[in-house]
Amino acid sequence: MVSTGLLLIGAGGHGRAVLETLRDSGWPDPVGVLDDDPASAGLPGIPRLGPLAMAGALRGQGIGAAHVALGDNARRRALGDWLLGLGFALPVVRHPSAVVAGTACLGAGCVVMPRVVLGAAARVGSHVILNTGCIVEHDALLADAVHVAPGAVLGGGVRVGAAALIGLGCAIRPGVTVGAGAVVGVGAAVVGDVADGMRVAGVPAVPLR
Ligand SMILES: CC(C)(COP(=O)(O)OP(=O)(O)OC[C@H]1O[C@@H](n2cnc3c(N)ncnc32)[C@H](O)[C@@H]1OP(=O)(O)O)[C@@H](O)C(=O)NCCC(=O)NCCS
Repeated sequence: MVSTGLLLIGAGGHGRAVLETLRDSGWPDPVGVLDDDPASAGLPGIPRLGPLAMAGALRGQGIGAAHVALGDNARRRALGDWLLGLGFALPVVRHPSAVVAGTACLGAGCVVMPRVVLGAAARVGSHVILNTGCIVEHDALLADAVHVAPGAVLGGGVRVGAAALIGLGCAIRPGVTVGAGAVVGVGAAVVGDVADGMRVAGVPAVPLR
């Protein structure tokens, strides 16, 4: 069987952003998009093939690669792992304007949006979103399904646990650890460790009530 073409999962706002990044990066257009929401508008110029449950059949028809373009971290991870189990490749989607150090590494299914900077020896897990213009400095360690939102800045050696959301425009002091499933609010200045599942915001960041 010849494996060819890329299947997108998710026809919402993040899906539209990923589609632009694919096109800017010179990928052929995805062969189609799957989305469980019948009310979603779809993606411009991309055939809407049906609900997510069709992924297995499409793999059987020879579609070889997929990308999960969903903002929900837990769902993106679960679907990404499911697609890997079905035999899809989950390539890294990387905008040509991004600057990725040669010594950095990215896992399966990551997307690197425009003007991201990923520093030396940074290690990024699978299904991670590095969103527009974020900076992840040298030696950072990001677990699976993290989302670093636009404009966030992570200092050297910052560690982020699985499925954490690092909010728009925040800054994280070098060496700090943000736990799994934590949420860092928009514009926060994180100067100390954040426990698993904790939501913090403010300057300096404190736990939200
Ligand atoms: C922190 C956050 C998760 C809180 O969301 P929420 O639980 O819906 O909280 P609410 O909006 O109900 O606000 C609760 C309180 O926290 C305050 N608050 C919320 N976000 C805050 C922030 N980023 N900084 C400072 N205070 C904040 C609110 O003013 C409110 O204060 P009050 O009780 O004194 O009125 C959310 O505001 C946030 O920043 N999310 C990140 C979004 C993001 O970056 N997404 C990526 C998109 S690409």
